[in-house]
Amino acid sequence: MQLLSSGFRKEPPYYVPLGHEVEIFEHCHAHGNAVMLKGPTGCGKTRFVEHMAWRLGCPLVTISCHDDLSASDLVGRFLVRHDGTFWQDGPLTRAVREGAICYLDELVEARSDTVVVLHPLTDHRRILPIDKTGETVIAPTGFQLVVSYNPGYQRMLKDLKPSTRQRFVAIDLDFPDTEREVAIVAHESGADQATAFTLVTLGRRLRELRDRGLAEVPGTRLLVATAQLAVSGVELRQACYAGLVAPLSDDPCLVEAMRDLVDATFA
Ligand SMILES: Nc1ncnc2c1ncn2[C@@H]1O[C@H](COP(=O)(O)OP(=O)(O)OP(=O)(O)O)[C@@H](O)[C@H]1O
Ligand SMILES: [Mg+2]
Repeated sequence: MQLLSSGFRKEPPYYVPLGHEVEIFEHCHAHGNAVMLKGPTGCGKTRFVEHMAWRLGCPLVTISCHDDLSASDLVGRFLVRHDGTFWQDGPLTRAVREGAICYLDELVEARSDTVVVLHPLTDHRRILPIDKTGETVIAPTGFQLVVSYNPGYQRMLKDLKPSTRQRFVAIDLDFPDTEREVAIVAHESGADQATAFTLVTLGRRLRELRDRGLAEVPGTRLLVATAQLAVSGVELRQACYAGLVAPLSDDPCLVEAMRDLVDATFA
């Protein structure tokens, strides 16, 4: 489990809004409603939560979910020491006590018996019962649960149960339009507008390969990484091969199709 707790920063984390997500999130926060962010990889979900935590002046606790994550990993456990046994809060319990925004990344990866722990926090009760100690922690104003997932992944039978889904307000995030994505890539990498525009245009063409079997299309993160390679001196075409094409697929046909698109861009 990856756990990050953000300190307070002077500058807001840079975030370019794509629609009404900032406003909707603020209303959810005021009402104590849990939020579900849906969107493809690298489209800005994590950055958005970091930005909102800063705007709302809340600490942020981030937990990356995986299929080994247990309820005890979230809530806490008794630890045995030479001088006895003591209780240690898990990250979820800590977030509730602190009135933090608790961000569970890729919630769909977590086992359903783990997800159920969130239920009493996401309805009118806003409580976290800790069975092992008998304590019930009441969530203070400010505590908010945020989860994210990428609906595009091939998940076999994995999905969230309706009883979980219907506890959240869902915000759909997608890739930004060209103008915004150029601004993001230029800001994040230090690349000039022309380079950012070239990469974003190429990225949008690569995204069209979804219809030809490319399961994961390039997110803004890959465009930023490619632009960073170019800014630090790698020739742009080589930067695209390494930063944009190679990470996306091992399928020789798809890789060739993507390299052709790169070559056509720089012909
Ligand atoms: N709207 C945006 N405003 C500012 N930066 C953005 C935005 N969208 C994407 N980025 C840039 O793209 C990078 C990737 O975004 P982020 O890590 O938030 O994606 P994500 O949706 O959380 O992806 P994943 O599902 O893989 O965790 C960010 O570090 C940032 O540089
Ligand atoms: Mg993320």
